[in-house]
Amino acid sequence: MSDVTRPATTGDTPGGSRGRTAAVIPAAGRGVRLGPGAPKALRTLGGIPMLIHAVRAMARSRAVGVVVVVAPPDGAAEVRNLLDEHALPERTDFLVVPGGETRQESVRLGLEALPADVTSVLVHDAARPLVPVDTVDAVVEAVRDGAPAVVPALPLADTVKEVEPRTGGEPEPVVATPERARLRAVQTPQGFDRETLLRAHEKTAVSGEGATDDAGLVELLGVPVVLVPGHEEAFKVTRPLDLVLAEAVLARRRATDAY
Ligand code: CTP
Ligand code: MG
Repeated sequence: MSDVTRPATTGDTPGGSRGRTAAVIPAAGRGVRLGPGAPKALRTLGGIPMLIHAVRAMARSRAVGVVVVVAPPDGAAEVRNLLDEHALPERTDFLVVPGGETRQESVRLGLEALPADVTSVLVHDAARPLVPVDTVDAVVEAVRDGAPAVVPALPLADTVKEVEPRTGGEPEPVVATPERARLRAVQTPQGFDRETLLRAHEKTAVSGEGATDDAGLVELLGVPVVLVPGHEEAFKVTRPLDLVLAEAVLARRRATDAY
């Protein structure tokens, strides 16, 4: 990367009245749906760990001054080594904290590590390594324009059915078919006013697996959440076929950009 040639900046708005924007990257999941192997965030795409792609995707935004990586609980030292080994912008500060049992717990642990001068927070899945910087900047801009919670999202290709879930491949009764045109698939980075996101994580207890979406916690507070256009390349690497797609996207970028 050519980031070292860029002039240093605090990432502040020109007036300098606001604090910094941080990106919290939950990367502590196992990746059960991807199959056996290393924790998902440490698996490589184009020879580089998925987590490093995700960190670079955040740090590529000039608005992002701090990145907090939430590492697998026993992998914080390994993640620190990876961050040291790979070229990252000098203008960005990096912190690593160990994660928790659920995504929600991991994000909360990341939020606890935020420096005091941070006023806006992005939460970005390590499992979305290829999000373009324009999407990151659009989310940051909407937060800086005053939205307390901003989510990148796309219309759905598939029609969605609500069901009574059954296990073991048993036929599942359909409960409803929501109108597809009113549905959106949400992505990350999701952007928040710091105080709003902290309050959401403090006040909302979600049972079982925990919340898979930070904006959902903000909705529970009754605070408005807005969507901005997401991007196809911000897809989440979840199942083995997603790795094939991610490699193809990377290969296309390497062929067409000075990536
Ligand atoms: N995550 C986390 N801590 C957890 C669980 C998930 O930080 N205890 C992170 C993952 O590392 C990932 C993001 O949350 O970057 C989105 O989660 P998901 O795609 O579900 O990843 P995994 O939980 O790792 O995958 P799976 O559900 O298939 O095990
Ligand atoms: Mg998961």
